[in-house]
Amino acid sequence: MKVLIATDKPFAKVAVDGIRKEIEAAGFELALLEKYTEKAQLLDAVKDANAIIIRSDIIDAAVLDAAKELKIVVRAGAGYDNVDLDAATAHGVCVMNTPGQNSNAVAELALGMMVYAVRNFYNGTSGTELMGKKLGIHAYGNVGRNVARVAKGFGMEIYAYDAFCPKEVIEKDGITACASAEELYKTCNVVSLHIPATAETKNSINYALLKEMPKGAMLVNTARKEVINEAELLKLMEDRADFKYVTDIMPAAHAEFTEKYAGRYFSTPKKMGAQTAEANINAGIAAAQQIVGFLNDGCEKFKVNK
Ligand SMILES: NC(=O)c1ccc[n+]([C@@H]2O[C@H](COP(=O)([O-])OP(=O)(O)OC[C@H]3O[C@@H](n4cnc5c(N)ncnc54)[C@H](O)[C@@H]3O)[C@@H](O)[C@H]2O)c1
Repeated sequence: MKVLIATDKPFAKVAVDGIRKEIEAAGFELALLEKYTEKAQLLDAVKDANAIIIRSDIIDAAVLDAAKELKIVVRAGAGYDNVDLDAATAHGVCVMNTPGQNSNAVAELALGMMVYAVRNFYNGTSGTELMGKKLGIHAYGNVGRNVARVAKGFGMEIYAYDAFCPKEVIEKDGITACASAEELYKTCNVVSLHIPATAETKNSINYALLKEMPKGAMLVNTARKEVINEAELLKLMEDRADFKYVTDIMPAAHAEFTEKYAGRYFSTPKKMGAQTAEANINAGIAAAQQIVGFLNDGCEKFKVNK
């Protein structure tokens, strides 16, 4: 069996070493395609692969057509909107993610960005504190739960809304469950976004929702840029000089945000949420173990396509 690591943005070497150990211990062969610049290189590399480990790499119908021997693709990470799930199902390919492996890394970044913003981006002026402020966690999944855990240490008052997670699960963690996104935004000084990019969530963070936030509000986005209605966010920041936006996913209109809203806007230069040695290793090794479990025992835990 041949397992391919296809990463435009490579794993850390220590993570590749860990993956290799898992794959070779199972008697499989490991191939590596890193920092490829042309899609043709990916199409060529997948030809004889039985399994592929990816990061943010695009797996579409063309890749699946080229990968005649493919049985499984594992996205080492949480979001899997870079994989065409319907095409994978049509090709009989199992798609998995590695939930939870990078959640702490993303949560630490979210809190770090909050501190950075309330301290006026460390510009030498007096800022505010997170303690006692109301934090809204929009989606109580793996990252949202870690944000809650860390934010408790800051002494924040925590609220959460999740369309699918039962209220009891949220309240068991000592967090106030909101009945709707509207209630969450109306209540909280800071909202941290942790919804996936789906047909339902795309463009859903809009003017109507954000305008309800209290004075001095801040939106923190470590989820996906597609969930934000950018044109409406720009309009809101125009209308509300008190509103801050900090994001780990650079908006298409980054130049406009930077020019018009200096001092109230920050974006990481490229997505950094999961960019830690620990998250890299955890997600990579989990991907390798899931592939071995699937190929040897048919284990489909973490399968995300139908
Ligand atoms: N910045 C980064 O590097 C980075 C890293 C990891 C994850 N992410 C993003 O963060 C997102 C969350 O990651 P996670 O590991 O917590 O995922 P997760 O699957 O564990 O949690 C997602 C949560 O969203 C909820 N949800 C789904 N649709 C919803 C809706 N319409 N309204 C409200 N809640 C809804 C689900 O019930 C679930 O609890 C990922 O989908 C990914 O896009 C970014």
